[in-house]
Amino acid sequence: MVFLIKSCTFAFTIIFYRKNMLKEIQETSEFLMHRMPADAKIAIILGTGLGDLVTQITDIKEISYQTIPNFPVSTVEGHSGKLIFGKLGGVDIVAMQGRFHYYEGYNMQEVTFPVRVFKAMGINTLLVSNASGGTNPDFEIGDLMIITDHINFFPEHPLRGRNYNELGPRFPDMSQPYSHKLIAKAKEIAAKNAIKVVEGVYLGTSGPTFETPAEYRMFRTLGADSVGMSTVPEVIVANHTGMQVFGMSIITDLGVEGKIVEVSHEEVQKIGNAAQPLMTKIMTELVQNI
Ligand code: HPA
Repeated sequence: MVFLIKSCTFAFTIIFYRKNMLKEIQETSEFLMHRMPADAKIAIILGTGLGDLVTQITDIKEISYQTIPNFPVSTVEGHSGKLIFGKLGGVDIVAMQGRFHYYEGYNMQEVTFPVRVFKAMGINTLLVSNASGGTNPDFEIGDLMIITDHINFFPEHPLRGRNYNELGPRFPDMSQPYSHKLIAKAKEIAAKNAIKVVEGVYLGTSGPTFETPAEYRMFRTLGADSVGMSTVPEVIVANHTGMQVFGMSIITDLGVEGKIVEVSHEEVQKIGNAAQPLMTKIMTELVQNI
């Protein structure tokens, strides 16, 4: 009986949430636009241990997720959970310091809600960053990988369910999930600044376990160059809304036969910290060229 009541409550919550999605997007974007001064056209989602890009943002106005209506609250260690409005390299941006991970228990609508809000605020470019485990045997720890494509290995699709034509098409095209133009610009910037970058396919999976050796092998066989627990849902929704996307991943460990060692969240953050100034440099010059 208790189980039945719980199941009904859960189903009702989901239906209620979906019904209110448009209203919530509007409410949240209006709330932010009334309080935040920036005229940003670019949003940046900062991954685990990559919040340091924030130190380069000037004219900062911060707003904690807890105080934003309808925003989920980030809980994972290393994520302080705030939206930062300001200028990066002199360009208006809004940055998410801390994202919502599926493994934390959020549903896909919650994970991707900020992207919907950004679009409603008039933002049309999304930059994403994350830490991931390299499965490409040519990669080294600390490499910066430009994400050229992704594989959605999450058990749930963020666009499953009723489609709102106001937000995007029922069957979105995904032939260029990461903008070729932005990839080319980022490579140019990296070359000019003598920053080593690699390119590859990012596979997003639910976590929270890191991969077993057999799973790393499987993901490599499937075509992944790196594996992580984020990014793919947000990028799918950004594509759904018609945004252009650019993504970078810091290879914090290797899931390559013979090189697999124990991975910890702390280690991932440490390597991420070391590599992030280079990523910041590329992101900064990129926003100046969009
Ligand atoms: N898998 C493996 N290694 C990682 C990950 C992951 O999801 N994230 C950061 N390093």
